[in-house]
Amino acid sequence: MRAAIIGGTGFDTLEGIHLRPEKVHTPYGDVLLFQGEEEWEDFFFLPRHGTTHSIPPHRINYRANIKALHQLGVTHVLATLAVGSISAHLPPGSLVVVDQFLDFTQNRESTFFNGGKEGFAHTLMSYPYCSALRQRLVEIGAAMGLKISPRGTYVCTNGPRLETAAEIRMFSILGGDVVGMTGVPEAPLARELGLHYAALAYSINWAAGIESGKEITFLEEGVATLKKSILTLFLQTLKSS
Ligand code: HPA
Repeated sequence: MRAAIIGGTGFDTLEGIHLRPEKVHTPYGDVLLFQGEEEWEDFFFLPRHGTTHSIPPHRINYRANIKALHQLGVTHVLATLAVGSISAHLPPGSLVVVDQFLDFTQNRESTFFNGGKEGFAHTLMSYPYCSALRQRLVEIGAAMGLKISPRGTYVCTNGPRLETAAEIRMFSILGGDVVGMTGVPEAPLARELGLHYAALAYSINWAAGIESGKEITFLEEGVATLKKSILTLFLQTLKSS
């Protein structure tokens, strides 16, 4: 089985595994990713924003990224998503295995099925994430002593600007728990190609206006302290898949 981690903010590099850079050509553009060495040959790491965190959310080539993994024979993908917290029960620092999304992105290439040569299909999206991978993330996380919420609705905005307080109030009314800028169209594209895909959101701030009258502040240490645990969790989850 070939597996990949897509790293978001805070996960632009991976330590602890020997990786070599690999350029993959796809019909949608080239992708720079990393392949494991020796016993990690079947493992890939794709930093969504590039290794130097230089690609903003609305400029990420989501189709090329997912296609590249598919071309490499990857079948299982775990992704990290930095988010802001909307729901009171998920303060900054929380980890959430998201189970639904609300798509507020604009002008992103969001499908492989544009008709013509590519054909077209209406991909089922009622439950957009792989339930088996989600369950294993929660179980293995619990065994590691990590506090992980087993579900949550992820709101995807287009960015790169942050939201207004009114937008966050609207997302809250609509049932959004956390908000980020990169989870869509990544998840639906993975599903279009039949990949098993799940995402772990980690909150680094209260979303706009949740702390009434205050401007957003981001967790000082970001995800640095969680990074090692999340990598261990992801590798164990992929190994057991
Ligand atoms: N909004 C959108 N994306 C984010 C946020 C936020 O508050 N925090 C981290 N990514």
